[in-house]
Amino acid sequence: MKLKGNTIFITGGGSGIGRGLAEALHRSGNQVIISGRRQAALAAVTAANPGMKALELDITDPKSIEQAAKKLIAEFPALNVLINNAGIMSPDHVQKTVDDAQVSSIVTTNLLGPIRMTSALIEHLKQQPDASVINVTSGLAFVPLAITATYCATKAALHSYTLSLRYLLRDTRVRVLEIAPPYVQTELMGPEQAKDPRAMPLKDFIEETMRVLGTDADEVLTQPVAFLRNGAGPRDAEFTAQFNDRMAGEH
Ligand SMILES: NC(=O)c1ccc[n+]([C@@H]2O[C@H](COP(=O)([O-])OP(=O)(O)OC[C@H]3O[C@@H](n4cnc5c(N)ncnc54)[C@H](OP(=O)(O)O)[C@@H]3O)[C@@H](O)[C@H]2O)c1
Repeated sequence: MKLKGNTIFITGGGSGIGRGLAEALHRSGNQVIISGRRQAALAAVTAANPGMKALELDITDPKSIEQAAKKLIAEFPALNVLINNAGIMSPDHVQKTVDDAQVSSIVTTNLLGPIRMTSALIEHLKQQPDASVINVTSGLAFVPLAITATYCATKAALHSYTLSLRYLLRDTRVRVLEIAPPYVQTELMGPEQAKDPRAMPLKDFIEETMRVLGTDADEVLTQPVAFLRNGAGPRDAEFTAQFNDRMAGEH
């Protein structure tokens, strides 16, 4: 996609990958609007990036999504890019009786959230000269990390949804992209993750992602995620066992 002159709405821009993308896109000449539940996090990011705007949003709440979409369309009529980035991840122990509130929250945030947010903005996006919907999935969409089964299932579903949306919008001016990050140093699973040497440094991930975003690629992949992307296919069960054995051995 073109990397300047867009009006971009990103869910979850107050921290981690969302913040990194928002700042990189802000620097390269786009009007960026970030969103999330934590007002203080949003305020810190907009204060550090004059001109960037913020909007409170709870992606699990359909009313909040409707209100955000209305406000965006009224205040930023040139809005032409939606980045569905907000997400949550936690171990869910599906080999036992699960915590229903926890797994519901993961599905509502990571899967229904992007579907509802896209629905609320899609007719507006279709009217723009060029537009993009960018879904942030994960390498774990292709090969699951079993200890976070519901999370991985939502990302696999979001990948599938992205394929459908791209097909259905193929004759429109709306492009549908997918960013599938590898393991990246953010606080997605808690503060330790941001220091884990096995994870890709956030700065490197953002740099490489921006480079690939500027090409015609539909799938924005970085080198450390290739083994997971390529692990999908008829032998995915065997690959899943090897991957999970290896990850369990590292803990
Ligand atoms: N880091 C990785 O290793 C990795 C790998 C693959 C994929 N990803 C994906 O990358 C995306 C960003 O994650 P991250 O690593 O940057 O972690 P993060 O720093 O925890 O970012 C997640 C963001 O989502 C927002 N969010 C969560 N629940 C929300 C809700 N109900 N309504 C609105 N916003 C909500 C959070 O903002 P508030 O808390 O303020 O609402 C936060 O800014 C996620 O979709 C994640 O699955 C990350």
